[in-house]
Amino acid sequence: MSEQRKILVTSALPYANGSIHLGHMVETIQTDIWVRFQKLRGHDCLYVCADDAHGTAIMLRAEQLGITPEQQIAKIQEEHEADFNDFLIEFDNYHSTHSEENKELSSHIYTQLQKNGHIATRSVTQAYDPEKNLFLADRYVKGTCPKCKAPDQYGDNCENCSATYSPMELINPISVISGATPVAKDSDHYFFTLPEFTDYLKDWTRAGHLQDEVANKLAEWLDSGLQEWDISRDAPYFGFEIPGHPGKYFYVWLDAPIGYMASFKNLCDKSDTLKFDDYWRADSKHELYHFIGKDIINFHALFWPAMLSDSGFRTPTKVCVHGFLTVDGKKMSKSRGTFINARTYLNHLQPEYLRYYYATKLTNSVDDLDLNLDDFIAKVNSDMVGKVVNIASRTAKFVAKSGGKLSATIANETLWNKFEQADSKIAQAYENREFSKAMREIMALADAANEYIAEQAPWSLAKEAGNEQKVLDICTMGINCFKALMTYLKPVLPATAEASEAFLNCKLEWAKPIIFLGDHKINKFKPLMIRIDSDKVNAMIEDSKEDIAALESKPEGWLGKEPIADEIEFGEFAKVDLRVALIANAEHVEGADKLLRLTLDLGGDTRNVFAGIKSAYQPEDLIGKKTIVVANLKPRKMKFGLSEGMVLAAGPGGKDLFILEPHEGAEPGMRVM
Ligand code: 2FM
Ligand code: ZN
Repeated sequence: MSEQRKILVTSALPYANGSIHLGHMVETIQTDIWVRFQKLRGHDCLYVCADDAHGTAIMLRAEQLGITPEQQIAKIQEEHEADFNDFLIEFDNYHSTHSEENKELSSHIYTQLQKNGHIATRSVTQAYDPEKNLFLADRYVKGTCPKCKAPDQYGDNCENCSATYSPMELINPISVISGATPVAKDSDHYFFTLPEFTDYLKDWTRAGHLQDEVANKLAEWLDSGLQEWDISRDAPYFGFEIPGHPGKYFYVWLDAPIGYMASFKNLCDKSDTLKFDDYWRADSKHELYHFIGKDIINFHALFWPAMLSDSGFRTPTKVCVHGFLTVDGKKMSKSRGTFINARTYLNHLQPEYLRYYYATKLTNSVDDLDLNLDDFIAKVNSDMVGKVVNIASRTAKFVAKSGGKLSATIANETLWNKFEQADSKIAQAYENREFSKAMREIMALADAANEYIAEQAPWSLAKEAGNEQKVLDICTMGINCFKALMTYLKPVLPATAEASEAFLNCKLEWAKPIIFLGDHKINKFKPLMIRIDSDKVNAMIEDSKEDIAALESKPEGWLGKEPIADEIEFGEFAKVDLRVALIANAEHVEGADKLLRLTLDLGGDTRNVFAGIKSAYQPEDLIGKKTIVVANLKPRKMKFGLSEGMVLAAGPGGKDLFILEPHEGAEPGMRVM
């Protein structure tokens, strides 16, 4: 092995106000494969991440749910960690930006920037919600476009005519949070004086830390002139107070990347050997890799190196940028069911299918990556099941027949040489994040092995007595090809690699060249991977539509307060027949994330109704409770059956959805109003 490297790796910190989806998974899978590859090659590689816990959105979301932001971020972090874990993402540490380590490091870095004269103070005029007593970021103000008069536009630009403006220029602006009319209000803000780092950054962005296409993009920004960066927000804000400035908080993006350091610091504190300074001091020779999406390049390749160097820390070795995920060639869409949450995927499909498929698509460019669902099924079934696993399943039984021990002979030296020689090419492709190239090389080897086995046809030879040794030699060759393939695929398919290790009765190691396993006892072969069933993919898409149906009953940017709908006549209202119903039975619905099947007793009339209240209730807790039901709603055919009514529940959603207790709501069947 070449000299052992010490590498610290991160992927972008997901916001603690939403679920992980398959777009996030492009990045964590890419990073995890790279890290596992480094570890497999014998390097000392550590992968840390955290939840990005601060900001207004998280504060408002918690308020809406009636919980503290701390409770909200703890709940989401648990969900995120479970999702990543079930996708076989192996972090060495997962932390939160809302941590003591991060608070200390953020204060320290800010203080250094300030000492160096790189913090400026200026008064800024902003939209302010006089009801909530809150400054409003652009996306929290809506109104009519001042240019084309399109209604319902956000505070920064118009989706209709692309005009850009400030929120107070909107005609009839309203605060999305309270519905109040915002007022203009001044307050002092703190700025990081980024333009003073222009020359430094011109050098840094050309010093081999970035892909060329990224450096070129940054050169355009650097040439057109950098702006000072506003790093403060006024209270109320969920974040860290700025030292020496009560009521002022660090903007979430100031402490987010510092969260990388904080997570690593937290890891060091748990370890006897790891030392924070070894990795972060200005002259550290250890490597630091950040994997990010192309939407956050400015934060990582401009602000971050400038902040780090100015506060006496090392800067990244590489910032590795990837593109966005599309599904079936289009932006992920909630209505098409292609906005797929990690958990929804995992409810239907194995994590390794997606890990492999992404690997076949990932390059080191910033191009977008397409998850084509038909291609996904075809490729996984043909490559993984049809080519790789097939080699073992076709040959293992003959080895078992001759006592389960491999022969000592390399039956085809040319073929084995080919497998050995592919080593450095495949390793190089992994190192350069050209995973699609690595996968192509590996599949070419799988093809060669399958051709060899087909030509030799051990199944025919085995029919005649006296061929036992020959058959064993051929199958030993097949098993060794399989072993080499699984070793090369181990970073991508850790679970199948582990199952293969049990079958092969040896560790799949790649720190040294792969060795031929001769004269070695192997274990009974068990199927290692099953084919993807297209029904499962369809069910996942259907479920994604269902997930979204729950969300889409609320307008974009919904924060708990919706405008009152248009007035209706009493006559229209009177048409709605609301009845008290007793929940006679409640049960889970196979394959539904949000729905429960309720049997309602309306005083003799029994109804089957699907209700989206699974997040708040266990079925057994509902039985015997009462609810109000829209009794004259036309029955609707749903994926899971006919729904004969609509249950009314009140609350912000999630765990808080309220129906009636047994003593409330009078007798079943009674009309309500
Ligand atoms: O864009 C995002 O999802 C951010 N939460 C990423 C933060 S990465 C790092 F800087 F913390
Ligand atoms: Zn407009």
